[in-house]
Amino acid sequence: MAEKLLEVRELTAGFHTERGFLRAVDRVSLSLEAGQTLCVVGESGSGKSVTSLAIMRLLDYSGGTIAGGEIRFRGVDLTELPQREVMRIRGNRLTMVFQDPISALNPVFTAGDQIAESLRVHKGMSPKAAWRKAVDMLRLVGIPDPEMRAGQYPHEMSGGMCQRVVIAMALACDPELIIADEPTTALDVTVQAQILELLQRLKRELRTSILLITHDMGVAAEMADRIAVMYAGAVVEEGTAAAIFERPRHPYTIGLLRSIPGTTGERGTELYTIKGGIPRIEQLPGGCRFHPRCPYAMENCAREEPPLLEAADGHRSACWLTDMPEVMT
Ligand SMILES: Nc1ncnc2c1ncn2[C@@H]1O[C@H](COP(=O)(O)OP(=O)(O)O)[C@@H](O)[C@H]1O
Ligand SMILES: [Mg+2]
Repeated sequence: MAEKLLEVRELTAGFHTERGFLRAVDRVSLSLEAGQTLCVVGESGSGKSVTSLAIMRLLDYSGGTIAGGEIRFRGVDLTELPQREVMRIRGNRLTMVFQDPISALNPVFTAGDQIAESLRVHKGMSPKAAWRKAVDMLRLVGIPDPEMRAGQYPHEMSGGMCQRVVIAMALACDPELIIADEPTTALDVTVQAQILELLQRLKRELRTSILLITHDMGVAAEMADRIAVMYAGAVVEEGTAAAIFERPRHPYTIGLLRSIPGTTGERGTELYTIKGGIPRIEQLPGGCRFHPRCPYAMENCAREEPPLLEAADGHRSACWLTDMPEVMT
């Protein structure tokens, strides 16, 4: 078995409020092997961004707290590291690409300066060498005329080009892991496809490991080696992309898959939508958190929370229904 690059165990994280602790992420476990892409999928509000900010140790900056669990990065628990050590890893061995490239870039520095900065800080490069490498990085991410673009400011570039700059920044220090949180959601459809293609190419050529956060099962289908499906703060299903698409085990995953355009078979039928909405985390239902929306819910589901158990080799699901009908085939 390949080496575990990232191993998140029972991570609980959230926000202290007047009414108590808001548990946005509830005992989430994830694991990612070197050179692979893990997609974390789920509707908006399911805790994907809080999970990624916790892994980056950036949650404090948005007012959140890690309340329990471990985040092992090459065996070292990031939750226990002092900020000084975290800063040596973040932006260097572990980097992040955010949803909105414009706000991820600093408007008063050129693209080249922003990339060169992290090379100077983390790799101790001279300004000249760092600039040369910055230009190389812009070339690597497919930006035409990189020498000229390196001297430009973010407002002089399109959204797609800015996201390429952000990816170049994320790649500059040759990280072991890139976390990309909905990296294409803010972009036009055609640009989205180009950015996904770029991430695929970089993964192939550089063997960078990617933790890709998306609400879009279609994106996961193209990108993932493994998929973790999150619902209302918890992982409800996890397995290889092949297993999840061929034989989804959790009714929520089945609903997500049926909601992808072009997967439901008969033409002309309306696109499926899962009934109801994701519950507010301060008002989670008892038992299985998905049961009020679940077409297969049984009496037991309202009473007891189903544990995330191995349903098949390396494929885990949190559902009381053990003989799920093969609805997808
Ligand atoms: N800064 C914050 N303060 C309070 N609650 C927050 C904050 N950020 C996120 N949340 C809550 O945490 C939950 C998970 O949010 P998030 O991780 O952003 O979801 P996702 O990325 O899956 O759309 C949501 O209920 C959201 O309202
Ligand atoms: Mg998010």
